[in-house]
Amino acid sequence: MALLDVLIIGNGGREHALALGLNDSNYVNNIHIAPGNVGTSEIGTNHNINILESLNITKLASDLSVDLVVIGPEMPLVNGIADDLKKLNIPCFGPVSIWANLEGSKRYAKELMQSLHIPTADYVTITEVSDNHEILHHFTPPWVIKRDVLAGGKGVTVTTDKNIALSSINEAIKMDGYVLVEEFLEGEEASILVMMDESNFVCLPPSQDHKRLSDGDKGPNTGGMGAYAPAPIVTPSILQRAQEEIIEPMHHYLRNQDSPYRGCLYVGLMIDPNGAPKVVEFNVRLGDPETQVTIPLIASDLGELLFSVATGNLSDLEVMFHNLCSATVVLASHNYPINPTVGDLISGNDVAIEEGETHAFIHYAGTTKDVDGNYLSSGGRVLAATGIAPTLREAVEASYQIINNINLKGSQFRSDIAFKAFRK
Ligand code: AMP
Ligand code: GLY
Repeated sequence: MALLDVLIIGNGGREHALALGLNDSNYVNNIHIAPGNVGTSEIGTNHNINILESLNITKLASDLSVDLVVIGPEMPLVNGIADDLKKLNIPCFGPVSIWANLEGSKRYAKELMQSLHIPTADYVTITEVSDNHEILHHFTPPWVIKRDVLAGGKGVTVTTDKNIALSSINEAIKMDGYVLVEEFLEGEEASILVMMDESNFVCLPPSQDHKRLSDGDKGPNTGGMGAYAPAPIVTPSILQRAQEEIIEPMHHYLRNQDSPYRGCLYVGLMIDPNGAPKVVEFNVRLGDPETQVTIPLIASDLGELLFSVATGNLSDLEVMFHNLCSATVVLASHNYPINPTVGDLISGNDVAIEEGETHAFIHYAGTTKDVDGNYLSSGGRVLAATGIAPTLREAVEASYQIINNINLKGSQFRSDIAFKAFRK
């Protein structure tokens, strides 16, 4: 394989993790990131474009003559960037827009799962405003109400309060014309990132996100406050069930379409107390912060892996993993997620750990540098400290060693990342 020039789209910790992984590749020459962040600027060339306009991405990819475009966030995929790159014969890691609908439309995902008999929560679509929805008698509380919009998890209401349920349903119908009401699934959540093309699929080590802001899964939902992998809740037998009941039927369906799925299928699972996995959501991209803990566990060459998926040749590879554990702890700005404060000085971020098999370092997200080289916060999730080690405890400890050294006024982080893995 000739050396690849790669363009990564996005500006989060996920994209910094991708850039670091590609920087270690024997198959990658130049790395470009659009728009990128302070972390990616230390690895490759950042290009400050608006990635919500597909034309900006296709123009940049053509101007740079890249051999591969790796899409981080969902919006460009929903906007059809993979379709546009396909017309230009530029390999794209990330699916074409009809499959991006699996994330872009919860109703579409539900209908497909139902037709393929994939286990997921029962649901009903409601279109009429009412002050006494029959569905609230049919499903027992807590009620799960989902707007069918891309809202980064914020379109979902889970409540035991009937008035909140009623108003959420009615408000969603007024805004969108319909709303989904789902059966509440008991259990513990986990994520499986699946590399997929028409030739094969490969599950990355299962991980677990921490969506709530505060310790003990309290507080508002966020983009994700930390993650770890492998998540022991996904035992080998649960992983096997998830493969047989969810991933294989999805792959069988997707591989046999005119435009097969090429990218990462993010399978968000709820694992019930009997060990039965059900799909909570599909995303059509790598998760953030799950990527930060799964990419470092891939022992195979990341450039070769992503290029193989983007060109439909995944079955040519045997993908290997390190026998290590990883954890990442997100440092968020003051007032995140409501109204994050930005522009504050970050210090103490010049520490990395390298002790035998234990490594810890920073994945940057909402961080920028001023003209004097000072690091400043520029977003809600500012950075994450990621630890890789032989045991999960060591990985978590290494991450906290880095996080505890960082100063950022009013910043917040969870002190219990991976607590579910340590629970007896
Ligand atoms: P979603 O955007 O569909 O992933 O939903 C956001 C979050 O709401 C999930 O990560 C779960 O924590 C919760 N959730 C969604 N659907 C359900 C369900 N049917 N049962 C229980 N919790 C759910
Ligand atoms: N960490 C959740 C997501 O990427 O959607």
